[in-house]
Amino acid sequence: MSKTGDLKSLTVPRVLEKKRNGEKIAALTAYDYTFACLLDQAGMDIILVGDSGAMVFAGHDTTLPLTMSEALYHCKAVRRGVKHALLVADMPFMSFQVSVEQAVKNAGRFFKQAGADAVKIEGGDNMTSTVRKIVDAGMPVMGHLGLTPQSIRRFGGYGLQAKTKESAEKLLNDALKLQEAGAFSIVLEKIPVDVARIVTEKLSIPTIGIGAGPFCDGQILVTHDVLGLYEKFRPVFARRYADLAVDIKNACQSYIRDVKSADFPNKKESFYSDPNLL
Ligand code: KIV
Repeated sequence: MSKTGDLKSLTVPRVLEKKRNGEKIAALTAYDYTFACLLDQAGMDIILVGDSGAMVFAGHDTTLPLTMSEALYHCKAVRRGVKHALLVADMPFMSFQVSVEQAVKNAGRFFKQAGADAVKIEGGDNMTSTVRKIVDAGMPVMGHLGLTPQSIRRFGGYGLQAKTKESAEKLLNDALKLQEAGAFSIVLEKIPVDVARIVTEKLSIPTIGIGAGPFCDGQILVTHDVLGLYEKFRPVFARRYADLAVDIKNACQSYIRDVKSADFPNKKESFYSDPNLL
């Protein structure tokens, strides 16, 4: 079977193999069953139940309000639709920062209750003992460096990260430490192309970029940005492959028009009883 037609489930060892083989990794987010089925059937390598769902699904201004029970609910729905991709669950803000014990317990809930294949954790150096403990318990961890949206209050905005020599060196050091702690891949968000390239070259685990240029081992975007569904904010780095917000509004307007003009439902869309019934 060709690579794109290969329908075997993607595992963590196979993700690592992709880096060794120089094969790019494609990832998108999903928050519900229907989108999970569509992305999976399209051949996505990794599907992330991102905490971006707090924004694009639930309408919050940041990712911070997402709770563990909401994240688990989304992950369970996505699990039912994913047959082949690697399913990664984003650990919500304050579900892993308080203590290593809390992090391991909450990570375990994604595996036991929601069928996740891996969890994602934001943070570098400060998270290495947490990552190590979760991995030691048998649960694969994806790291996340650069613009980590759970620290938005500290950053004060969604600007480019690792712009200075010092912060770029810190990012590289964080990436190496996450790898050493057992992370199987690292998301690099909104950092300069050359920083992402050097980090990618120095690591043996794949980097998955979002606004981090073409040299990462894979790319991830928020599905609602890719499909033109989220109109509140449009990141410059997110390429748009469809304009579904426009299509959906047009379809809804056609429906409203047909209902109001009594064009819908027509004969074929209605049920008729035996004329002698009444
Ligand atoms: O929550 C999310 O969607 C993410 C990415 C897009 C990397 O963390």
